[in-house]
Amino acid sequence: MDFQINDESKYKVLLDQEKELPRAGMHSFHRYYGKLIPAIPSAFIKEFTKEGDLVFDPFSGSGTTAVESLCNNRNFYGLEINPLAVSIARVKTSKLDPVLLMSLNEGLMMKIRTKEYEFSEKDLPYLLNRDHWFKDFVQRDLIHIAKAIDDYFTNDINEIPLKDEYKQFYLMTLSAIIRNVSNCDTRHVFPGISKRMRALEAEGKIHIDVIASYERAINKRAQYYADYTGDAHASIINADSTTVDLSDIKGKVDLIVTNPPYISSVRYIETMKIELYWMEYIQTANEYDSLAHKMLGNDKLRKDEYQELEYTQFDEINEVIDDMKVIDMKSAKIIGTFFNQIEQVIERMAYVLKPGGKAVIKISDSKMKKRKIETGRFMTLIAERYGFALVDVFLDEINNNSRSLTTARNTYSDIITHDYIIIWEKRS
Ligand SMILES: C[S@@+](CC[C@H](N)C(=O)[O-])C[C@H]1O[C@@H](n2cnc3c(N)ncnc32)[C@H](O)[C@@H]1O
Repeated sequence: MDFQINDESKYKVLLDQEKELPRAGMHSFHRYYGKLIPAIPSAFIKEFTKEGDLVFDPFSGSGTTAVESLCNNRNFYGLEINPLAVSIARVKTSKLDPVLLMSLNEGLMMKIRTKEYEFSEKDLPYLLNRDHWFKDFVQRDLIHIAKAIDDYFTNDINEIPLKDEYKQFYLMTLSAIIRNVSNCDTRHVFPGISKRMRALEAEGKIHIDVIASYERAINKRAQYYADYTGDAHASIINADSTTVDLSDIKGKVDLIVTNPPYISSVRYIETMKIELYWMEYIQTANEYDSLAHKMLGNDKLRKDEYQELEYTQFDEINEVIDDMKVIDMKSAKIIGTFFNQIEQVIERMAYVLKPGGKAVIKISDSKMKKRKIETGRFMTLIAERYGFALVDVFLDEINNNSRSLTTARNTYSDIITHDYIIIWEKRS
């Protein structure tokens, strides 16, 4: 393997051209940290596949690769461990009718504005310090909308095709506005009430109107569905991609486009904490911890969990683990676990991909305790063991849209200055 950055990459040229094109509105359905820029899946879907082909993403998150697959009339199969992300991605890839949505919007808004629902404390979801995150009237309005959605789909809407998907559209749009109507600073990655927000509050500059925000949000999102004109289909599975059984799609995938979690970098789940609790995907602190634990790159380890190190099948990675062990046992454990889990995912990628098929990975190196971890190169080392050959690797500047995420990474001591795009091909 010769893992050398290619400054002359023709694929970089292709990607840069793709970045100039307009993007589907659907990508802004719901905030999600660590989103791919849509040009990445789009450029490589166009380059490496044809209409009707199957695209796979083992870390599908909020579904950027999924949406681009549908926009280009390719089928999609994705895996994701965070149940809220799964719902977001499913709604974004449902084939809903924008005209029907607009008329449903009217009916629902009528209900929201005219109907009165009983409210009791029991209606509120479990969320630690809930009153810190939300004003009283906001909590009531959010519950009111949820009740109206339920009432509308139980009593007013009869049999329409995709009824559950339409209902999910309204629930996920509710989830999408939660952060905006909370007391959190929307400029921050992790939920928190900043000095800036306190100052704005003190100056009387914060005006929250939950119902009006919701109405705007559903009307805007209804339009996004007009971009889906083909008959391609997306399946998004709520699963752990290190252990999932993929026999259904063995050897059927034409292209993989993914951005795996960064090693010990961003706690994705924490960025979505308020929505996860409010929408009741998580109902106890234990459920939260258990999901966090299953996520790749998890760095929340109890002391007893890192007394014994985990080595890999790769000498070069083991050397890094040994180096780190002298500095910090916990970090050494995180590295071993991360690469073993990544290996399990790469094995599955090889299992589902057709011979000659490409895998496009966006990843960056990490720093742990001031040591560089060459994530991209190590992943490529592992991939070669599973029948992949390196085709190309080039640098992609972190773009401004993900600047807030970069700040989050920096505060985590993992200073990441650029991302790699790595392309592998499965040998015939
Ligand atoms: C960098 S994000 C991907 C974002 C996605 N490309 C998008 O545009 O929204 C990585 C994702 O991997 C998911 N993840 C972490 N561990 C996982 C696991 N063991 N199985 C499946 N998904 C996992 C995280 O929840 C997160 O959504």
